[in-house]
Amino acid sequence: MVNGPNLNLLGVREPGRYGTATLPEIEAAVRSRAGDLGVEIAWSQSNHEGELVETIQALRGRADGALVNAAAYTHTSLAIRDAVLAAAVPFVEVHLTNIWAREEERRRSLLADLAVGVVAGFGPRSYLLGLEGLVAWLKAPKKAED
Ligand code: DQA
Repeated sequence: MVNGPNLNLLGVREPGRYGTATLPEIEAAVRSRAGDLGVEIAWSQSNHEGELVETIQALRGRADGALVNAAAYTHTSLAIRDAVLAAAVPFVEVHLTNIWAREEERRRSLLADLAVGVVAGFGPRSYLLGLEGLVAWLKAPKKAED
């Protein structure tokens, strides 16, 4: 799980928009669901674009799949798009909010066309739904595409 900038402030950051769950609380819920699904998860968060690029590069050959909430970099970062392409790891893009129901500049994702799928708008539940979707896809990629 790769989390981008400002997600470390979940719980205190614009709670009316992003909710009151903290990132460690979301992590605990995702880890618990990962356990139920029988998968291992490595969790990361960074406010720095270059660090995110390095984290994504490091997935290559080491992870079966990834969940990515690149936060604001979703809308701006060609470097993160290039890292995701280079990593060649199937990923699901997740967002707490429905980015298509927000300001114009958030309605574009530089990652979405590379993703297996996108889950947005369900608050912390987006992470759980993304995990479930990713694991199902990894188990039967062809079937999920039918
Ligand atoms: C976000 C949406 C982004 O537009 C925003 O910059 C974030 C969080 C979300 O999860 O809803 O930081 O990725």
